[in-house]
Amino acid sequence: MKLTTNRLVIRDYEKRDIPSLIENINNLEVSKNLLLVPHPYTLKDAQWWINHCAEEMKKKPRTTYDFALELKSEKKLVGGIALNKVDDFNGTAEIGYWLGQSYWRKGFVSEAVKEIVNFGFEKLKLRRIDVCAWTKNIASNELIKKTGFVYEGMRRQAARSKATGSIHDLYIYGLLKEEWEKFKDLKL
Ligand SMILES: CC(C)(COP(=O)(O)OP(=O)(O)OC[C@H]1O[C@@H](n2cnc3c(N)ncnc32)[C@H](O)[C@@H]1OP(=O)(O)O)[C@@H](O)C(=O)NCCC(=O)NCCS
Repeated sequence: MKLTTNRLVIRDYEKRDIPSLIENINNLEVSKNLLLVPHPYTLKDAQWWINHCAEEMKKKPRTTYDFALELKSEKKLVGGIALNKVDDFNGTAEIGYWLGQSYWRKGFVSEAVKEIVNFGFEKLKLRRIDVCAWTKNIASNELIKKTGFVYEGMRRQAARSKATGSIHDLYIYGLLKEEWEKFKDLKL
């Protein structure tokens, strides 16, 4: 599967992503904010991930869309974005994302989140999308609010980072299809 934006190709992971995946995610500044990414991040971890995604892709119905973020200008992976826990009956799913540190603050993940949200509502016919972030993760919380999500509360000590072992409180947010329609008309 492949989606495109102005500057990005958002696509299924491929074996050729392994070197750039390791280069970008083997960085505690990135993985300390994520749930399931080990540190250090080894070749074995990257191979496991690519195989895992290949298996997930085959499932019908697909409940997980894990995508590589490829910069058109560099033609290589610079980050990842996912629509997880896709529940067709309930009409819900959850977004997660990360980006290599050298690419931060250029609007890349905002661009990708908007495209994935659109994909979720238009193609998968979802009615609600969830996202959450550690309460201390200012960058992600700001990004979430700027992409139209609505703050819904905090889950105390709800998550543990695999990279650091630390426990985190989580801010939770949701976006309903009708809110997205309004936000899109205003901001896109
Ligand atoms: C969070 C993360 C994905 C942001 O990606 P990004 O492409 O740099 O974000 P954007 O450039 O689209 O930023 C959108 C807005 O978020 C806020 N923001 C992003 N990075 C920020 C930072 N380092 N400090 C403060 N605010 C920040 C800003 O408000 C920004 O808008 P502006 O640049 O117009 O002011 C990236 O920092 C990252 O991968 N961090 C580590 C992994 C992670 O935290 N993943 C999310 C887990 S919930």
